[in-house]
Amino acid sequence: MSAAPQLNPATHEYDFHDGHFNLLRKLVAEHAGIALNDSKRELVYGRLARRIRALKLSGFDDYCRLLENDPGEEMIEFINAITTNLTAFFREVHHFEFLADTAIPEFVKANAASRRLRIWSAGCSTGEEPYSIAMTLLESVPDAARWDIRILATDIDSNVVATASAGVYAESRLQGVSDERRRRWFTGAGKPGYVQVKPEVAELIRFAPLNLMHEWPFQGPFDAIFCRNVVIYFDKPTQHALFQRYGNIIAPHGYLFIGHSESMFGAQTAFELIGRTTYRVQRG
Ligand SMILES: C[S@@+](CC[C@H](N)C(=O)[O-])C[C@H]1O[C@@H](n2cnc3c(N)ncnc32)[C@H](O)[C@@H]1O
Repeated sequence: MSAAPQLNPATHEYDFHDGHFNLLRKLVAEHAGIALNDSKRELVYGRLARRIRALKLSGFDDYCRLLENDPGEEMIEFINAITTNLTAFFREVHHFEFLADTAIPEFVKANAASRRLRIWSAGCSTGEEPYSIAMTLLESVPDAARWDIRILATDIDSNVVATASAGVYAESRLQGVSDERRRRWFTGAGKPGYVQVKPEVAELIRFAPLNLMHEWPFQGPFDAIFCRNVVIYFDKPTQHALFQRYGNIIAPHGYLFIGHSESMFGAQTAFELIGRTTYRVQRG
């Protein structure tokens, strides 16, 4: 077995050794299900060195002691610092095309009596994903105003959930958004270079912090779950257990969308693959 790469003390302000890294990865696995391999050593150092500075601690010994003995609010800051929140509007656009062209027409038929539609963006980061879902629904559900539509958008990182619910974005973040959609679904945010998602889009979404490893305070059924670029940070048993739980709360006609580098390979689940990273509940 090759030795774990060590950080160069000449370029790193704080001493950071195996004992620190192993404790920190144990805590992040226990609290968030996130599995950090040796290649994440530098990332962990960089993100937590910022917390050490902000808390005016002397180094990783102090920081580890704090997390082990009396973390209080710092456990949340620690998890927030470790999570990776990269996202974009209409990221992996084929899912939104599938939603508009195939899934929504099916949902509209299946739910004609209740006129109820539920979608969960699990690991929503700063909100671009649930807003993209909401825009797609408004564009594709005929007579959407007469439907009971809710998108649940959750993330373990309380900072990104706060950003998401504000719905304000730098214009530079709108690369995946067509001009027509910009005009239709965004408005000025009162400061140059920023736009805000219009209220008719935002009002479809409920944002909340939620750790996917914990109990979920809702039962579904969901017509679709987007859990994209989230399970990539979990080990295989954690991924499989999560897919199993999704299977229990997706409607019989429902879909699960996962990220471009994720797969259900090897998991015994209630889903069948029907397209690029697009799964549906097994039907007979
Ligand atoms: C890379 S972002 C993906 C955002 C969006 N789904 C997308 O594909 O663009 C991954 C998100 O998963 C969240 N996450 C990681 N572990 C989590 C957990 N145990 N429970 C809930 N969210 C988690 C992170 O905070 C982060 O915002």
